Amino acid sequence: MQVAEHVAVVTGGSRGIGRAISERLAATGTRVVIGSRDQDVAEQVVDRIKEAGGLAVAVRTDITQPAAVKELFDSAEDYFGRVDVWVNNASTATAGALSRATDDDFDRYVAANVRATFVALREAATRIRDHGRIILISSALTVSPLPGMALLAAGKAASDHLARTLAWEVGSRGITVNSVLPGLTRTDVLATVPPHVIADATARTPLGRLGEPGDIADVVAFLASEASRWITGQTIHAAGGMI
Ligand SMILES: NC(=O)c1ccc[n+]([C@@H]2O[C@H](COP(=O)([O-])OP(=O)(O)OC[C@H]3O[C@@H](n4cnc5c(N)ncnc54)[C@H](OP(=O)(O)O)[C@@H]3O)[C@@H](O)[C@H]2O)c1
Repeated sequence: MQVAEHVAVVTGGSRGIGRAISERLAATGTRVVIGSRDQDVAEQVVDRIKEAGGLAVAVRTDITQPAAVKELFDSAEDYFGRVDVWVNNASTATAGALSRATDDDFDRYVAANVRATFVALREAATRIRDHGRIILISSALTVSPLPGMALLAAGKAASDHLARTLAWEVGSRGITVNSVLPGLTRTDVLATVPPHVIADATARTPLGRLGEPGDIADVVAFLASEASRWITGQTIHAAGGMI
C-alpha cells in the first residue's frame, strides 16, 4: 500500500489541527479533500499545498448537516476516484460549568457532535476502500477532565466508543479505526480558554508545554500509513503525557 496513491478527507481541514493534518498528509503524496464552511480560508490551504508540490481540493461543507458526509464522499470520489482515509476532525464546542448548561447546549454540543460522528462512521464503513483508515480527533478531556468542558468531553467519549466498535465491524477488510486524543493545543480555540486553565494544563504535562498542531498531525500521518496496520480500536493519547 503506497500512501502516495491515497485520498484522504479531512473535516475541518482548513484551520488549526485539521490544517496541519491536511498539509502533513499532502506532504506524503496523499491527495487531500478539505471539508470546512469557509471556502476562502480552505482555498488558501489548498494553494499552500499545491505550492509545496501536493494535491488538494476544498469542498464547502457544514459537517453538522445530515447530507454533508455523503456529499463529501461524493466530492472526493468525483475529484480523485476513491477515499482511503477519513479524518473526523471538525467539531463544535463550548465551555461552561455543567450546572449552568442548558438542554439546548446539550443538543448542540453533545448530540450534534455525536450524531455527526455517527453519520460519518456509518458512511465511511461502506465507502472507505479496503485497508483504509478512519481517524477520529477526540480529546484528552475524555480521560483528564478540565472544569467547564463536560459537554465536549461527553461527546468525544461517546464518539470514541462508536469508533471502537466500528473497528470490530470493518477489521476483516483491513480497515483500522482509531481515536487521537490531543491535549490543549495551540489553535484559535486557545483564545477562548482562560489563562489559568492553560497554565494548569501545562503544569499537568510532563513535557512542559502546550501541544502544537504539528504534534497531532504527525500522529495522524502515522495512523494513516501502512506502518500503523496493527493498531485498531485504540484511543491514542497525543498530549505530551498530560494527566
Ligand atoms: N485545540 C485544542 O486544544 C484541542 C484539544 C483537544 C481536542 N481538540 C479537537 O481537535 C479538533 C480541531 O480543533 P482545533 O483546535 O484545530 O479547532 P479550530 O482551530 O477551531 O479549527 C476548526 C476547524 O474545523 C472547521 N469546522 C468547524 N465547524 C465545522 C463544521 N460544522 N463543518 C465543517 N467544518 C467545521 C473550521 O473551519 P470553518 O470554521 O471554516 O468551518 C476549522 O477548519 C476538534 O475536534 C477539537 O475538539 C482540540
